[in-house]
Amino acid sequence: MQFFIDSADVGEIKKALALGLCDGVTTNPSLVAKTGRRFADVLKEIVALVPGPISAEVTATDAEGMLKEARELAKFGPQIVIKVPLLVEGLRAVKALSQEGVKTNVTLCFSAVQALLAAKAGATYISPFVGRLDDISQDGMQLIGDILQIYRNYRFDTKVLVASVRHPVHVLQAAKLGADVATIPFSVVDQLAKHPLTDAGLKKFLADWEKVPKEAK
Ligand code: G3P
Repeated sequence: MQFFIDSADVGEIKKALALGLCDGVTTNPSLVAKTGRRFADVLKEIVALVPGPISAEVTATDAEGMLKEARELAKFGPQIVIKVPLLVEGLRAVKALSQEGVKTNVTLCFSAVQALLAAKAGATYISPFVGRLDDISQDGMQLIGDILQIYRNYRFDTKVLVASVRHPVHVLQAAKLGADVATIPFSVVDQLAKHPLTDAGLKKFLADWEKVPKEAK
């Protein structure tokens, strides 16, 4: 499973790269707003750092406006993936972009039929938001299972990119289901390696090591 970092914060992206846990990056208008920086400046810096796919989201809500923005965003580098909301107008834009060979990431997906439409439009990635479904007492990971089943049934090339990841169990479940990608906030990445029994075991090893006779210095 590929790990994308769900962030526009260059400091977080650098930390994930240093861990070998940044196969790509996803941004969205809210993540860019959190940086307090101009979008172009953020994108230039991420493109210079990350060799993998970098999702940059359009903000137009009509297909023509989306296509116009997409062509500008694509100029930032070959890693750019155009992120498009799952609207009818977005599907029109994705169809056109896929025919031009431009990679797309269809975002704000909350149902399996939406994901089916995105695949038929030629989306490169689909981003189902599992955390936001959990927030309203629905089962976000069930949606991932449903989409994977549908995509496998018809051998769609669209990759399932699990988004709105809130904790390590989402990462575990995504991997068990066979999702192609999980886009993970760095705060969650930071939790993944941690286990209290590892800490306790290491503490015991080091304490016992102190009892081992040492070579005379
Ligand atoms: O990639 C989408 C993600 O940033 C949304 O996460 O926690 O706002 O639902 P969240």
